[in-house]
Amino acid sequence: MRNSWIRRIVGAAAFAGLATWTLTGEAANPLPEGNGTLAADIAFLQKGLSKEPQKREVPTLKAVAMLIALNAQNQMDGKDAAKMAGVRDAALAVAGAVTKKDFAAAKTAAASLSDAKPAADAKPVTLGGMHKFDLDELMSSFRKGTVGGLNLEADVKAQSKKVTDPQAAAVIAGRVALIGEYTLGLPPEGIDAAKKKQWDAWSKEMTTLAADIAKESAKADKADKVKMATGFRNLDANCNACHTAFRN
Ligand code: HEC
Repeated sequence: MRNSWIRRIVGAAAFAGLATWTLTGEAANPLPEGNGTLAADIAFLQKGLSKEPQKREVPTLKAVAMLIALNAQNQMDGKDAAKMAGVRDAALAVAGAVTKKDFAAAKTAAASLSDAKPAADAKPVTLGGMHKFDLDELMSSFRKGTVGGLNLEADVKAQSKKVTDPQAAAVIAGRVALIGEYTLGLPPEGIDAAKKKQWDAWSKEMTTLAADIAKESAKADKADKVKMATGFRNLDANCNACHTAFRN
């Protein structure tokens, strides 16, 4: 449902603190090493842009490009900093081209993600507000795969019943953790302080719950699948709580 009353704050100020993930006092990168989300998102983007995308696929393609940019920037704290900055910049080029509906340029930029050139200047940038990325586009990625989404809503519900493949669960959780970071920076405009507090709490909780699942799945064979399913149930409750208050 689209809320006409929601006008997104796209100003950079709304995103203070997004560039490094210090908002809940955790480390800059909510995802554990070896989490497969970056590779899965690059593959999704390249496939989606291998042909002229359908209109309904476009918002999620842009969202995935922005998720890649954030994920790469979150990993700019180690020895791969220049490489990760290069991935981020290529992903931002995809997001910019998709915004302009220049799908040929988007396809070329997406292809370059497989072997991104290290950036000369590996400094964090403020991703919030870039390419007018908004909540509609961000949330579109939760929709079913059959309508161009990442199928995350259905996947979260399925995983909350039973986790069988920790690696698949790692990608679902990884995507949701990153989405939570952007959600935090995209509160509906004009809400009062009490509502804003709720928005912030649910956004941070989305990332924290999803990151905990991703951390558990990183234990591979030793991952506690029952614990992960419980994590997905808590995540589903988080989605519902925010929707009851903010989505009508
Ligand atoms: C902090 C609040 C918040 C949280 C947490 C949240 N959402 Fe949303 N969601 C919204 C709002 C607001 C909208 C309506 C956005 C719009 O105007 O399209 C929405 C829209 C959606 C849509 C519709 C997108 C479309 O394009 O039709 C889906 C699907 C969705 N959310 C799934 C989820 C799932 C799954 C989770 C949990 C993993 C979640 N959301 C967590 C606030 C939230």
